[in-house]
Amino acid sequence: PDTIDRAARILREGCLVAFPTETVYGLGADAASDAAIAKLYALKSRPHFNPLIVHVLSGAEAERIALVGALAASLIREFWPGPLTLVLPRPRTSPISLLASAGLDTVAVRSPAHPVARALLEAFGGPLVAPSANRSGHVSPTRPAHVEFDFGPAAPLILDGGPTQLGLESTVLDLTGEVAAILRPGALPRARLEDFLGPLLAPLNVSSVHGSNAALKSPGMLASHYAPRLPLRLNAASAEPGEALLAFGPNMPEGAIRTLNLSPRGDLAEAAANLFTHLRSLDAPPASAIAVMPIPVEGLGEAINDRLQRAARPRDTAR
Ligand code: TXA
Ligand code: MG
Repeated sequence: PDTIDRAARILREGCLVAFPTETVYGLGADAASDAAIAKLYALKSRPHFNPLIVHVLSGAEAERIALVGALAASLIREFWPGPLTLVLPRPRTSPISLLASAGLDTVAVRSPAHPVARALLEAFGGPLVAPSANRSGHVSPTRPAHVEFDFGPAAPLILDGGPTQLGLESTVLDLTGEVAAILRPGALPRARLEDFLGPLLAPLNVSSVHGSNAALKSPGMLASHYAPRLPLRLNAASAEPGEALLAFGPNMPEGAIRTLNLSPRGDLAEAAANLFTHLRSLDAPPASAIAVMPIPVEGLGEAINDRLQRAARPRDTAR
């Protein structure tokens, strides 16, 4: 409790705190403070046009910062707290910093389930913006050590909640258009949403994102958002000389410099939880590339394949 209080004090002073959620570690800042959010963008080296998710304790708190319609309210009752982010219209009276919405007339909100995240929100007493606590363009952190590694001596206070349970970022659902649409597949599988809502729009085609309206809707969906340093080779049956291998399932081909298995028993939830940790571990010399075995696309496999495809794309140097 003392550390949570200290973290809340730091946030009230307009500084940053990294904290665990059930998905990935977040870099928290006072959602109402332009100065705190400017600091956050600077530390992440994040392009300013990429908006932030506002974290709240409840649906009632969401209603103070966004327009929560009937559909949003029913989704909140069903899936909060949890890994579902809703993009909602932003009323003119919203107390959230305009920097958090990065110029859009919408705001993304989510209520995290992790007890440390909730204790921090409670102690702070208001909404917190929290992007994943990595430098912009890097793989999201699922352990405190990842946050430390990315920021080095510039790292803020990190609340240690151990490895995160889900390992993939939240699913981002846009409720501001005619039809609900998944802007980012994530830890809440599409099928769970479809069971509740009926068929949704198709996911964004990553290769068509640049310059399209979709890119303006969710700027974080830039093709090369989740890149490790080494090149990735997807759907590999085995490793070529010099490659490290990211395996999946019981069949482990030999010959790789180093092999890590996402889930020897072929379990997608286990694979999701291990994905970013294993990618970070394999992303090191002397390997020259990372070969990745095929992962089925059902359930959480949609989000896992989405992150792998982004990581495999050449870096977008223009951004
Ligand atoms: O699981 C998560 O969502 C984690 C934890 C810390 O909560 N957070 C996270 O935040 O992944 P971040 O900033 O790394 O990713 C937020 C995504 C980006 O793709 C961003 O473009 C999108 O949400 N987003 C945020 N606000 C938006 C808005 N108003 N309209 C459309 N997309 C938005
Ligand atoms: Mg991120």
